[in-house]
Amino acid sequence: MDKIRIVGGIPLYGTVNISGAKNAVLPLMCASLLTDKSVVLTNVPLLSDVTYMNSILGGLGTEVFNGSDIINGNVCKRYTYKTTDILSTTVPYDLVRKMRASYYVLGPLLARKGEAKFSLPGGCTIGVRPIDIHLSALEQMGANIKIQNGYIIGKAQKGLKGANLNFPSPSVGATCNVMMAATLAKGKTVINNAAREPEISDLAKMLNSMGAKISGAGTSVVKIDGVNDLGGTIHNVISDRIEAGSYAIAAAVTNGRLELINAEYDTLVKPIDILRKCGVSVEIANNSLIVDATNQEITAHNIITAGYPGFPTDLQAQFMAMLTLANGVSEITETIFENRFMHVPELIRMGAKISVKDKNSVIVNGVKNLSGASVMASDLRASFALVLAGLAADGETEINRVYHLDRGYETVEKKLQQIGANIQRIKEK
Ligand code: EPZ
Repeated sequence: MDKIRIVGGIPLYGTVNISGAKNAVLPLMCASLLTDKSVVLTNVPLLSDVTYMNSILGGLGTEVFNGSDIINGNVCKRYTYKTTDILSTTVPYDLVRKMRASYYVLGPLLARKGEAKFSLPGGCTIGVRPIDIHLSALEQMGANIKIQNGYIIGKAQKGLKGANLNFPSPSVGATCNVMMAATLAKGKTVINNAAREPEISDLAKMLNSMGAKISGAGTSVVKIDGVNDLGGTIHNVISDRIEAGSYAIAAAVTNGRLELINAEYDTLVKPIDILRKCGVSVEIANNSLIVDATNQEITAHNIITAGYPGFPTDLQAQFMAMLTLANGVSEITETIFENRFMHVPELIRMGAKISVKDKNSVIVNGVKNLSGASVMASDLRASFALVLAGLAADGETEINRVYHLDRGYETVEKKLQQIGANIQRIKEK
């Protein structure tokens, strides 16, 4: 397993090209199952999750072609997906266990083919992460769902029908899955208490460009009028707000100055508000954000994660890394996942002063310095939090199990080297 070695204490300066969003591209890729026409995605990030999803779609009968565009002097991947016919409706355990988001094929397979056999996704380090909201909604739309030998077996031979759905909690995945399924259902579907994330709006935008009839995406009530079939399209993937937020914090923890190209302020209002309250300057430029923390002391601030437009859970670990060096005491409360503090013991090993307040809150007492150490990545966003701590720490940090990073951060060490970081990947045999 590859490792990453960082020598910290270097202020980062320069520009970072923010890639297409992982949490947008995964449902967008699966939406291509809904039509036999070509769906072209541009600005696709080079991530291992995209590679996994390509193999899952290939196994279902989708032809996947890739090429590239040069945008701002950078290679942005262009993929064409064409599913003339769905040749298999089974997603095996060994693929699902590698990437939970493969559940995004469920809605499209039931809508297009009327059947799906899909391994129940296991939990992951950040929580149990059930998919009961997905399954209950699809049942209310007429699917027959059974669980057998660890597999979900879904059938909708007469097709899906529109339904008035009330989500018990605003699930991002369930909102995307149901939105896709409902595009080809007979009649109208209403999702009440839908999630509001920008990646959902991006998916609705693409589906509508294929002929779907979706309104209200990005609000908590999404309406979908079913149509008979969908056409092809070409769609540019929205830029990754979590990657942008992660690099904004890289500027903050190293007292540097970074321009984040393609970062979209409108998708980052809450995290930028908190960064500014911590003393970091964030300027909105034409197609970028300029984050400046030169000679700036970080002040403490409390954080409570929430569904969009609240503070994103996917930036909690990264902000915690920054707050370990803040002047003062911060309280961080995680309300979305039940076990998203795996980065805490690793940060403590680097000299952070963090104590558990209760099962979903920690207290961070800022310290003057962190010190480099050998640490273990546990999940995608925790691993970037350790990179941030390594960039700020005195001395050398070695991060193990960096495959977590590669799931959601495109060419991470290259992007960091280009802005001055002393960072290398050590390939393990
Ligand atoms: C998406 O996960 C993202 N993943 C996550 O990003 C993100 O943290 C999460 O949304 C919340 O914003 C992708 O988009 C691929 P949820 P998802 O359904 O859809 C519970 C990252 O780091 N729940 O909104 O799985 C669930 O257990 C990843 O990029 C149910 O109980 O999240 C969780 O506590 C991590 N039943 C909460 O809801 C369900 O049927 C939010 O889950 C579904 C969810």
